[in-house]
Amino acid sequence: MTGLQVVILAAGQGKRMNSDLPKVLHPLGGKSLLTHVVDTALKLNPEETPIVIYGHQGELLRHRLADLNVTWVEQKEQLGTGHALKEALPHFSSHDRVLVLYGDVPLISFETLQKFISSTPLPALGIITAKWGNPAGFGRVVRDQDNQVTHIVEEKDASESEKNISEINSGIYLISVSDLKKWLPKLTNSNQQKEYYLPQIVEFAVAEKKTIAAFLCPTLEETLGVNDKAQLATLERCYQHKQATKLLNQGVTLFDPSRLDIRGEVVVGRDVTIDINVIFEGKVVIGNQCTIGPNTILRNVILGDNVEIRANSLLDGAEVGNHAVIGPFARLRPGTTVSSHAHVGNFVEVKNSLIGEYTKVNHLSYIGDSEIGKKVNIGAGTITCNYDGINKNKTIIGDEAFIGSNSSLVAPIKIGAGATIGAGSTITKDAPANQLTVCRTLQRTIETWQRPKAKNKETE
Ligand code: UD1
Ligand code: CA
Repeated sequence: MTGLQVVILAAGQGKRMNSDLPKVLHPLGGKSLLTHVVDTALKLNPEETPIVIYGHQGELLRHRLADLNVTWVEQKEQLGTGHALKEALPHFSSHDRVLVLYGDVPLISFETLQKFISSTPLPALGIITAKWGNPAGFGRVVRDQDNQVTHIVEEKDASESEKNISEINSGIYLISVSDLKKWLPKLTNSNQQKEYYLPQIVEFAVAEKKTIAAFLCPTLEETLGVNDKAQLATLERCYQHKQATKLLNQGVTLFDPSRLDIRGEVVVGRDVTIDINVIFEGKVVIGNQCTIGPNTILRNVILGDNVEIRANSLLDGAEVGNHAVIGPFARLRPGTTVSSHAHVGNFVEVKNSLIGEYTKVNHLSYIGDSEIGKKVNIGAGTITCNYDGINKNKTIIGDEAFIGSNSSLVAPIKIGAGATIGAGSTITKDAPANQLTVCRTLQRTIETWQRPKAKNKETE
């Protein structure tokens, strides 16, 4: 957007969070409060990178969010929201207008901001307000008999009648740079909190007979701030509700929209069904006709079509092909590819491995650093011994091999195509294709052995 500069105020400590973490680093839907606001700001395509005013635990903040595409401006002492914006003054030059956002008001949407900006005429002071049944904690918007905004009063400075005003100040403003240059140096701190309040600019605008364009936000939660953990929890639910609604609108069946948590981004195909208590993290791509069972976690996962993820499975950094079945109680770790029509069953852990098409690893196995061909059957309890204490070694199993139950395959090792491994074998050398390899002591029966007999107490 031409002529627009965004400033995000994020220097406050957030005392009411009762936490060692700076407030704006607390996660909401898997990303920090500040990242939400920056992402929304960037969607507006401002002329320059957004400015973040930071202060409290600045080093930690900048370190954790080093990837953010922002200009960091330090506010050494937190003397109030007006003082915070003043720190950005040297960075405003050619820009027409400044949009002020808050690092602790994370749900403000791109759509609302767009409407706000386009409905605020250039010389006016724009301000987003909202009407709350319970406005406690917010600054209140005071209007005169003609319904014109006269000023904003903070709760701590408000009279009893002012406290009854339900229209609140969201703290989001659109101000021309020329006005800011005039007004910011004039702010005073003669109030209850001895802070330089940014809302004081409203009084300056009124004194200059400037238009105050108050934009009433239609969706209340967008104006909600996070000041304590209860508000963070409330906003997390708002956010998740919105995410779930988006999926429902795309045709996903959710057995209970309130028991789904999305901490990242989800892309879904058609006719996907999601059971209860599911968590998606990172980037999750789900193909058509997939079913996701209850109590599952999918983190950075790509599923093909017709995949079935059964209950209580954890998939992390894995790719699963069409018609594959995973779980119940399966764990796929990073670097795992399960090819189409394959099955990974209960209490099976797979790491950094390729499971070929139609292959089955159905029970109680560990498959690590392996390449397993097509139509292989891995018997219950099979373990790839991939780690010698120093190195990770590879196991390669050819197509249509059959690994008997409870086998240990000591890597590095190759099992040829069509090979059969006898149950209970500890395989330490490569096994040839199409033959039975078995490595266990031979079974013998001792004919002369007799079971000891219990002494009969009565005959003693
Ligand atoms: C502020 C507004 C209030 C509004 C509310 C909406 C003022 C004086 N009050 O109150 O009218 O209803 O937001 O959420 O502006 N910050 C700094 N430096 C500072 C002080 C604050 O960067 O010196 C940042 C904080 O990190 C936070 C934001 O500004 O992101 C708001 O500060 P906060 O102290 O939470 O203000 P509120 O009391 O919520
Ligand atoms: Ca706040």
